[in-house]
Amino acid sequence: METGFSHIPVMLREVMEALSPRPGGVYADGTLGGGGHSEEILKRIGPDGRLYGIDRDPAALRAAGTRLSVYPGFQAIYGNFHDVKELLGDIRLDGGLLDLGVSSHQLDTPERGFSYHEEAPLDMRMDTGAGETAADWLNRTGEKEIARALYEYADERWAARIAAVIAEMRSQKPFETTGDLVRAVDRAIPKAVRMKDSGHPARRTFQAVRIAVNDELAPLTAALNDWVDLLERGGRLCVISFHSIEDRIVKRAFNTLRNPCTCPPQAPICTCHKQPVVKLLYGGAVKPSAEETQRNARARSAVLRVAEKL
Ligand SMILES: C[S@@+](CC[C@H](N)C(=O)[O-])C[C@H]1O[C@@H](n2cnc3c(N)ncnc32)[C@H](O)[C@@H]1O
Repeated sequence: METGFSHIPVMLREVMEALSPRPGGVYADGTLGGGGHSEEILKRIGPDGRLYGIDRDPAALRAAGTRLSVYPGFQAIYGNFHDVKELLGDIRLDGGLLDLGVSSHQLDTPERGFSYHEEAPLDMRMDTGAGETAADWLNRTGEKEIARALYEYADERWAARIAAVIAEMRSQKPFETTGDLVRAVDRAIPKAVRMKDSGHPARRTFQAVRIAVNDELAPLTAALNDWVDLLERGGRLCVISFHSIEDRIVKRAFNTLRNPCTCPPQAPICTCHKQPVVKLLYGGAVKPSAEETQRNARARSAVLRVAEKL
């Protein structure tokens, strides 16, 4: 059994308020992680309720699955929440949760390769049993495509320069470790700029490569539509994102579901007849309390959005 598998659930109180899990209800957590949110849901739905906990990380699934197996309504499911329709079939949900990104456990386990603080194999896969590692991705992807990922997934303004250094370094020796990537960023960004950066200079590059390797953003809009599709009327979908690019996708997807009308703005009446699918709660977005961000640094960038099926 895994040990030390800890992750403090972010915005737990706000998520429980929004979902208000009811005894006997049916819920799904698409990002089970350490199971913190899931456990709170399980406590509220009681023995007659059902909670499906999905994760693509076999280690997370094993650890949380074992811990939560004491709850009779819990079922752990290995898979990608983007494939929720295949994973859950025709199950209808009273509520769903997506707490996006990586867990503290993944970040803090050096051999997973997510951390720029530790020398480790450059892996970064959430699903350690599938797909290519960050090293494979960096060794085979074209320089322009790497630059695009750094810019689009992390707003890295040194994207072109970092991609050029990566291309140059890998022509000498393929990328293997987290240290190789940190050194590439160090070489690409001038020292004066690195010194001024309040965070680690490799922070944005690691975020972008992780997003690319795990294909986190491209399928997100379609996935959100599928999750909303599975909700019962009045059911709610809570989504927590951790950076602005991810949050922008959630915001746009929810706004389109709230107002799917495709008629030109100047049209006097609606002729597309597309009806709103959801309403949005809390005027759009909720941020964690100051008390929570003090207690848990990871919560600082969190944004919660909640859509209710009409
Ligand atoms: C931020 S953590 C979730 C933490 C969890 N809410 C808790 O309270 O412990 C995100 C988890 O979701 C998983 N994950 C991220 N994207 C996923 C995806 N597309 N499909 C399935 N699992 C995913 C990661 O492997 C990680 O374990």
